[in-house]
Amino acid sequence: IPLAGVIGNPIAHSKSPHLFRHWLKTYNRPGFYVPMHVAEGDLESVIRSLPKMGFVGCNVTLPHKVDVLQIADLATDRATLIGAANTLIFRRDGKIHADNTDGYGFIANLKQGAPGWAPSIGPAAVLGAGGAARAVIASLIDVGVQEIFLSNRTRPKAEALQSAFGTKVTVVDWVQAGNILEDSATVVNTTSLGMTGQPELRVPLDGLRRGTVVTDLVYSPLKTRFLQEAEAAGCVTVDGLGMLLHQAVPGFERWFGTRPEVDVDARAAVLG
Ligand code: ATR
Repeated sequence: IPLAGVIGNPIAHSKSPHLFRHWLKTYNRPGFYVPMHVAEGDLESVIRSLPKMGFVGCNVTLPHKVDVLQIADLATDRATLIGAANTLIFRRDGKIHADNTDGYGFIANLKQGAPGWAPSIGPAAVLGAGGAARAVIASLIDVGVQEIFLSNRTRPKAEALQSAFGTKVTVVDWVQAGNILEDSATVVNTTSLGMTGQPELRVPLDGLRRGTVVTDLVYSPLKTRFLQEAEAAGCVTVDGLGMLLHQAVPGFERWFGTRPEVDVDARAAVLG
């Protein structure tokens, strides 16, 4: 019986076990998916032990997504480019393979939530330059978006991403972030602003055009103030929960042998 799970610290609030349990039941697959609370110093020894106990792979969440890249024997190009992994595959030959499916999840969620969305609709604006922004930018470039405006409170972090991803990325000062919205067909909040307990995103949104696709990686609350205001401006809004669901699809398919659906039932399973 295949075993998989998710490693993090903390891990108690992870939604992935609920999602995997729902899919295992829905597709009637044998298998288990367990949350694993692992301290930083134990990360490598835990990961090396898992294949010996019958694990076929695991997901990795904060704060371990960067460190697992060093532990893995091989990494996909996208994981290397992003500098972090969220999915480990334990191969039969004993090698640990690291991948990053966050960007895949981001794009799949955008396509599902905004059915007309295509890379050719125009430039994208990305707010924030943390770990999540790296996955978002990598995936936008990968699917063919030609121009990305990137704005972050701490400008040098945006400039570092510009250096990593090249000339398709243009850095815009945080105080000017409102000005890039009218030229953008897609707008993404990758900052933690707007999350329950955090301050609101204060970028002026009056530049948003009707029909612009606006998405927020924050999914708690599900409809952030940013998304509410975008919706009021006539934008097409996509919440961030779908990214969490879609990024889990490749792992489930590989470990349990069926490609699962991201549908209302899957959403309901993680919302509890
Ligand atoms: P994640 O992996 O979720 O991207 P992160 O790497 O900690 O998390 O990045 C958090 C992002 O939210 C950063 O872009 C951060 O901006 P800074 O680079 O300037 O820190 C942004 N962020 C967090 N709090 C913010 C605030 N109060 N105002 C503006 N940006 C904020």
